[in-house]
Amino acid sequence: MKLKAKRKEYLDLREEIKTLLDKTNSAPLLVRLAWHDSGTYDKSIRIEEWPKCGGANGSIRFVPEINHKANSGLVHGLELLKPLKDKHPSISWADLIQMASATAIEQAGGPKIDMRYGRKDVSSAAECAPEGNLPAGAKPWPNNAASAAEHLRAVFERMGFNDQEIVALSGAHTLGRANPERSGLGKDSTKYTDGTSIVRPDGKPGSGRIGGQSWTKQWLKFDNSYFQDVTGDDDDLLKLDTDRALFADERLKVHANEYRESATDFFRDYAMAHKKLSELGSKFEPAGGIDIDQVDWCLECPIQ
Ligand code: HEM
Repeated sequence: MKLKAKRKEYLDLREEIKTLLDKTNSAPLLVRLAWHDSGTYDKSIRIEEWPKCGGANGSIRFVPEINHKANSGLVHGLELLKPLKDKHPSISWADLIQMASATAIEQAGGPKIDMRYGRKDVSSAAECAPEGNLPAGAKPWPNNAASAAEHLRAVFERMGFNDQEIVALSGAHTLGRANPERSGLGKDSTKYTDGTSIVRPDGKPGSGRIGGQSWTKQWLKFDNSYFQDVTGDDDDLLKLDTDRALFADERLKVHANEYRESATDFFRDYAMAHKKLSELGSKFEPAGGIDIDQVDWCLECPIQ
């Protein structure tokens, strides 16, 4: 397919994702799906050995990976995206999943993320990432880490992230909820998740499935309230040990305090960290990826 036609297909897909998000209020689920596809990445394994390094390669669509304990509930994200994949077979699962997440962040009121596309998919279950590469939200910390902060550093440094990026990415918990029947964490329901609160960024009613415990009050809106609520005392709002660690650890706290004070700083750093997350372990075709927002494209011009 010519690059221009391919780009048009991505742009069409993005519009369809926007409609899906609006109808299903699924931004948190789709952001988590994309992070769990890419967050298996191990920078110590050379990209030449792709896809052994894990990362944003669509492997989460296969059993056994989708059944990993950390991925509980994410099959519903795949189910939501499947009709779009069927409609756009030439776009990889890896791209579709990452596009859904970046579009969800933006539609929820967050920053625009400078995405590129053209990710290659793994082709079989044999290429799935091993279990245990994603972070735990509660004790016991894997690999004998002494604290939540030590565990976070061990996991995120394996992916190539520093302290500031750990804190920025954790801010994605401004969206969504934990569910006892999925992760075993959070409450069954709160006043923010029982369907009575306005949680959409546009102020319209609706939140999709009822229940669970959110980190923030308006949990379908992307803003910096996570950094304010994590240190608050509202028992209806969730605070995992890994969330509290951002304000307990001296080096992480510097960034958490900055993002609590400045949504602008948070949005800037989140957008950069999210782009990096979305490209971990990805193999692009063409090698530089496809920038679908490039301004010098001319959709009406005959040849490109
Ligand atoms: C810092 C380490 C992290 C830990 C320990 C962690 C842990 C968790 C847990 C336990 C849940 C609840 C899942 C459920 O019960 O349904 C969750 C949900 C979520 N996580 Fe994380 N997470 C981390 C980092 C991230 C990152 C980096 C992102 C995205 C960039 C992210 C995005 C989300 C979202 C959007 C949800 C809500 C999903 C929904 O409402 O369906 N998390 N996370």
